Amino acid sequence: MRLAALPVLLSVAALFASCHIEKKKEPPVLNTIQLGQTAVSLTRVADHLEVPWDLEYDRKAHAILFSEIAGVIKRLDLNTHRVSPVARITEVYHQRTTGLLGMALYQPEQGPDFLFLSYTSKTGDSIYSNLLRYTYNNGKLEAPLRLLRIPGSTGHNGSRVMVAKDQKIYWATGDAASDTFAQDSTALNGKILRLNLDGSIPKDNPIPNSYVYAWGFRNMQGLTQSESGTIYTSEHGDAIEDEINLISPLQNYGWPQIEGKHDTEKEIAIAKKSPRTEPVRSWTPVIAPAGLAYYGADAIPEWKNSLLLTTLKSQSLRILHLSANGQQITDEAVLFSNYLGRLRSVLVLPDGTVYFCTSNRDWNPQKGFPKSYDDGIYCLQKTTDTTAPVLRPQKPAAAQNLSGKALYASYCASCHKTDGKGLLNTFPSLAGSRLVNGDKNKLVHILLHGASGNASDGVHYDASMPAFAFLKDEEIRVLTNYIRSNFGNASDTITLETVKNNR
Ligand code: HEC
Repeated sequence: MRLAALPVLLSVAALFASCHIEKKKEPPVLNTIQLGQTAVSLTRVADHLEVPWDLEYDRKAHAILFSEIAGVIKRLDLNTHRVSPVARITEVYHQRTTGLLGMALYQPEQGPDFLFLSYTSKTGDSIYSNLLRYTYNNGKLEAPLRLLRIPGSTGHNGSRVMVAKDQKIYWATGDAASDTFAQDSTALNGKILRLNLDGSIPKDNPIPNSYVYAWGFRNMQGLTQSESGTIYTSEHGDAIEDEINLISPLQNYGWPQIEGKHDTEKEIAIAKKSPRTEPVRSWTPVIAPAGLAYYGADAIPEWKNSLLLTTLKSQSLRILHLSANGQQITDEAVLFSNYLGRLRSVLVLPDGTVYFCTSNRDWNPQKGFPKSYDDGIYCLQKTTDTTAPVLRPQKPAAAQNLSGKALYASYCASCHKTDGKGLLNTFPSLAGSRLVNGDKNKLVHILLHGASGNASDGVHYDASMPAFAFLKDEEIRVLTNYIRSNFGNASDTITLETVKNNR
């Protein structure tokens, strides 16, 4: 009887499988995140991606539309967890941080859907940042329209794009590594630009006949709007002072004259002469903030009225709790430090489900990454199943102590790497470096004043070395001696005297 029953059972199973072939295969829960009363599950819902840069929710298809930096747009079906290609944008110029960056999907009740794209292109020797509008028709991109083209560079091209509640496009542009663009209100770089959906200048922009809405920015990597309409950005500082800004029309956010809060005599004097707006939060040592999304849903009550921020250097998801009026950040919690790698973009669905993606195959991979399955898209969702290993949010790291190892990890390792070996053609190796082990004055000088394009070993480096003059003399002394006595280096010590003489 048993044997005879078997084929029937099998065919029922086969039938079951064929009926449900499109049913979502539930990925395993990797962790349970315990937040007060609420448990949240972490799952990886897509893998083997190439630097996904922006995630947008297609509510009509219940799918995530996402960009990959090399110029590809894909769709992740949230019913089946299948990823399928949508388009390749052949004009995209991808090198290191340039490429297909921010996107915004606009799906009104009436009329066609639009997909706005921000990407870099190259014509001859000139690099540009472009804002394009496509009609998004049932998974197809049609009728491209270039709304704006502005100067670009090998770095600092931003950018994020958003259609806000006022039905206007907000485009957060980078300063294209220029010293003058951000403070020049007639240049379109280092700005928040505001446009109509057809690319024209809104009649109610703060400066008549100008796209410029706010200025004084370096390189914004996150842009979002709260339920009550407040706009927030995240921005990369240079060697110090990463920022979250609250965006208001006509305000000047200070870069490059002011970094972070107005906390040096020079900065206070500049802000006194002509008004500058301070960030609502800044970080030194830097964390490399990236995607930003407002959480206003009820699903995870512990996160209601907060900003979710993905970070690259500190490899974390941060929960920045807002005050009731949204004007201040009142608390900060850190999830996933050094666990999933670099995190690039975050998206909140209307029901409060959170998706975010890694960026472990980008130009600056961190120790232990990429994993074979990188890059991935992850999901955070309220759960009642708490059997997976538990993670809890942490407080941000307290102020650093004075050890050379800790200072190096905070300020240097993101570029020169923990083992001092750097990244070929981008960041020089400090192991066996003539500059590190040679003339003490030269070494202290490069730390205090930075360097670009003039490496002592004759190699041209695409990136530049920021100035670390904000560090105390004692910190510079400890750091230079750390790099002179690690990574196989064994040179004699630098004194405080040498540091002081080079200030
Ligand atoms: C944002 C990336 C970045 C960070 C952070 C950074 N550097 Fe550099 N560093 C560079 C680049 C790029 C160069 C090459 C500059 C050039 O000459 O073109 C460089 C050059 C150097 C050199 C010269 C090496 C040689 O052989 O030419 C030293 C020494 C150095 N850095 C030390 C440090 C120390 C110490 C820190 C931390 C306080 C640090 N750097 C932080 C990017 C960085």
